[in-house]
Amino acid sequence: MKTVGVFGKDGRMGREIVNLLEQKPNQWRVVGFDKNSTALLPTADIWIDFSTPAGLAALLAETEASKVPIVSGTTGLGLEEMNGLKLASSARPILWSPNMSLGIAWMKSVLPLLAKLQGFDIQVLDFHHKRKLDSPSGTAKLLQDTLTQSGIETKGDPLAFRLGGIYGVHKVFAVSESEWITIEHSALNRTVFAEGAVLAANWLIQQSPGMYSIESMLGDL
Ligand SMILES: NC(=O)c1ccc[n+]([C@@H]2O[C@H](COP(=O)([O-])OP(=O)(O)OC[C@H]3O[C@@H](n4cnc5c(N)ncnc54)[C@H](OP(=O)(O)O)[C@@H]3O)[C@@H](O)[C@H]2O)c1
Repeated sequence: MKTVGVFGKDGRMGREIVNLLEQKPNQWRVVGFDKNSTALLPTADIWIDFSTPAGLAALLAETEASKVPIVSGTTGLGLEEMNGLKLASSARPILWSPNMSLGIAWMKSVLPLLAKLQGFDIQVLDFHHKRKLDSPSGTAKLLQDTLTQSGIETKGDPLAFRLGGIYGVHKVFAVSESEWITIEHSALNRTVFAEGAVLAANWLIQQSPGMYSIESMLGDL
């Protein structure tokens, strides 16, 4: 049986992932680590990280020698932190995604179709709970980058709203003088992200060193 480590185990996502993994006790042995853990980082065959950019950097450093694969959903990474992840992926498999839901992967895949529209104003919006640290969300940036890479100009940077307990809503508006198209994804719970991360861990543990995304995994499903 393989051991999976949950980094940030006491956080909102960490608790969700531990709970999900513990429902399949024959598949994974679960260990965890959080900021307030007093013991050393336990050994694991793979880590799932939902912490902070500094937390992820610490996990990378601590596991450098063991070259253990990492699935990370931590957002708010700067350029230096992204480069650190890419560098680490030359020696081990790493899957990073700012959104682990398969629905967002689908939404991303349809955005290039908006390039066919003429005379539409395009805008990305994200809505999250008010405890979220980064703004706009990593997913909003991912959607914005997808539009840019498809040659689609937007009205500006993504607009972010931090309200109540929203798990995550992402909208892409395309508005002309006569029509309004909305492409929208709503996460109805946190389990959707946890399920995607566990699916990713099952997949990543079989991969060679490299940098992967949810889309890399979907190609194999
Ligand atoms: N990719 C996705 O699908 C997805 C979905 C949801 C959330 N996220 C992202 O996942 C991250 C976590 O979200 P969350 O809502 O679970 O946040 P959270 O509730 O604040 O949980 C983060 C946990 O990580 C811990 N932590 C921080 N620094 C650490 C370190 N150096 N070592 C070990 N543990 C550390 C925190 O401890 P303290 O509280 O003591 O600081 C906290 O328990 C955020 O970046 C969020 O945007 C991604």
